[in-house]
Amino acid sequence: MADIVDEVRRLKAERNAIILAHNYQLPEIQDIADYLGDSLALSRTAAKTDADVIVLCGVHFMAETAAILSPDKKVLLPDLDAGCPMADTLTAERLRELKKKHPKAVVVCYVNTSAAVKAESDICCTSSNAVEVVESLEEDEIIFVPDMYLADYISRKTGRELIVWEGCCPTHAGIKPGDVLRQKRLHPRSEVIVHPECMPEVIDLADEVLSTEGMCTHVKKTDTREFIIGTDPGILHRLRKENPTKSFYAASEESLCSDMKIITLKKVLHSLREMEYMVEVPEDVRVKAKQALDRMLEIG
Ligand code: 13P
Ligand code: SF4
Repeated sequence: MADIVDEVRRLKAERNAIILAHNYQLPEIQDIADYLGDSLALSRTAAKTDADVIVLCGVHFMAETAAILSPDKKVLLPDLDAGCPMADTLTAERLRELKKKHPKAVVVCYVNTSAAVKAESDICCTSSNAVEVVESLEEDEIIFVPDMYLADYISRKTGRELIVWEGCCPTHAGIKPGDVLRQKRLHPRSEVIVHPECMPEVIDLADEVLSTEGMCTHVKKTDTREFIIGTDPGILHRLRKENPTKSFYAASEESLCSDMKIITLKKVLHSLREMEYMVEVPEDVRVKAKQALDRMLEIG
């Protein structure tokens, strides 16, 4: 493994490349990343990097987002099979049909969508800023796609009624209230932190509802020493590394995102060697999708 890591580092320097990795990636990918973060942090880093090449260790929509924001860079996804089953529930065609039924509605799309869906939307959001994005809207009618559980959470926080697309993340939907309650019985002093993609019955059991980056920031600053984490257990590697004196328990060890685990060190090396697999977005789609992303990034 050390040889692969050395070779990745050498090629990265040679190509002026940066490795961006999501918090759910395999430990060895997290350890080699130049930047590790949630969807919002990865988008912001992709938008401002001066590297020539971005190796995106995450899923397809994340690489597309980087390509939309940084058209002058080469964006590589080490395995094109890394997709997002929730993003795949919605096509641009189906969104156009929904918009026809609600012609006055403003469309908010979660970042977990294809570039084509973003291009049909007015504003994008991530789990870090979804509440602020919806709060910023003056329109009476709001379409929110494609996560019905995130939509439910936003509605509760903002009091706004949303027209939803009934998609959800199989990983987060796989975390059941019983999983959290079982861990709480085993670790009664733990704080329960869950992701807003979880179902409402799980959110009801949480002390905090946060994006993956929000989780990393929160556990550092609180005095609590034990945490039950309701999201993909891949994040536990970072949480433990950054907080060696604190204890972390996955709400469910089984509920993990297999797409996020497809990328390996060998694939990253192949990607940098062969400059594969390039993710590109057709210019007309890119320009429209960028408007939705820029409007989100302006919110801060
Ligand atoms: P964040 O890391 O942005 O919170 O999102 C989680 C997720 O499911 C990414 O696909
Ligand atoms: Fe998609 Fe869920 Fe995997 Fe995130 S965790 S990439 S939302 S399937």
